[in-house]
Amino acid sequence: MISENETNSRFLQACRRQPVDATPIWLMRQAGRYMSEYRDLRKTYGILELIKTPELACEVTMQPIKAFDLDAAIIFADILPPLEGMGLELEFVKGEGPLIHNPVRTAADVEALRTPLPEDNLWFTLEAIKLVRQELDGRDIPLIGFSGAPFTLASYAIEGGSSRNWRRAKEMMMGDPALWHRLMVKLSQVVGRYLLAQAQAGAQVLQIFDSWVGALSPADYRDFVLPYSRHAIEIASQTGVPVIHFGTNTNGMLELIREAGGDVIGVDWRIDLDVAWRQLGEEVAIQGNLDPVALFSPWPQLKQRAQRILELAGGRPGHIFNLGHGILPETPVDNVRRLVDFVHEYSSQ
Ligand code: CP3
Repeated sequence: MISENETNSRFLQACRRQPVDATPIWLMRQAGRYMSEYRDLRKTYGILELIKTPELACEVTMQPIKAFDLDAAIIFADILPPLEGMGLELEFVKGEGPLIHNPVRTAADVEALRTPLPEDNLWFTLEAIKLVRQELDGRDIPLIGFSGAPFTLASYAIEGGSSRNWRRAKEMMMGDPALWHRLMVKLSQVVGRYLLAQAQAGAQVLQIFDSWVGALSPADYRDFVLPYSRHAIEIASQTGVPVIHFGTNTNGMLELIREAGGDVIGVDWRIDLDVAWRQLGEEVAIQGNLDPVALFSPWPQLKQRAQRILELAGGRPGHIFNLGHGILPETPVDNVRRLVDFVHEYSSQ
């Protein structure tokens, strides 16, 4: 029985800005289509089937851990299943991505949203977390639990899928603030409780993905989003587990992202790591920030780009190497292996 959420890993040390023997590295979306092991399983199972069968979710979580010398595992799940428990019908359409059949558009739609306990509608991910912890027992590889942030979930719930300009989501936010706030109250409660439940199930780090938040102006972020991200992060932080707060396109609002909370702030490649760190201040750790497309370059070019990021981090405690956004399908697996090994070798010299 594993009751402790602690390990002595360099990953957790970096989250706490303690010195490490080498810079820890993991890759967002590290389990997925660039791996043949994953594509093989997907021939038999749909993505939601993989997520909702704890043994399969555990197996997929472990695939990149077995293939590469990564410093953390991330539970195989998705940011969207929590919306199902709220009453939305979710489907992953082949070649197109997620689709919500009954998007939230009216006041009645918002009122109808339920806020069930994660133990009731997301039990499969909590169970998968327990299985992965057993598999990782005795190894210094912590397990990351995660959730979408309230804004990113709201944008999927309202748009009904991915969007180019988030017109409908912003229309509700700008045109009917009271309704928007009622929606965000529900989402922040669902997100906070879900993160907390994952830590209680054994996740040793939590990441909140606000992937689409860069669509907003800083003022709109502050007024319509920040309080809800903060609320969810506060609930999650009750466990004492470090929280990684990730967003993309956040260059104009890094101080606000930081104000919303998190022990580690995730940044994308659109800002130099040292500039981002200066803006964030030394009291937080930083995660990032290689352009995922760099992994398609020949090794000498990729290595140069990885080295530059390590140089900008300058060996300061509190850097977790990662991509600036999720790893892309068709990424050459050899480059992933070389990158992981290079980050360790270069930073331990
Ligand atoms: O990192 C990991 O290995 C954990 C697994 C994970 C998935 N989704 C599995 C997945 C994580 C952390 C996510 C997060 C996620 N999901 C985000 C936030 C991160 C980001 O990239 O911004 C978002 C926005 C989603 C929503 C989502 N899920 C989309 C838009 C899509 C379709 C397009 C795409 O990127 O594949 C998914 C499907 C999905 N989720 C796949 C995987 C492995 C691919 C599904 C397949 O097998 O076809």
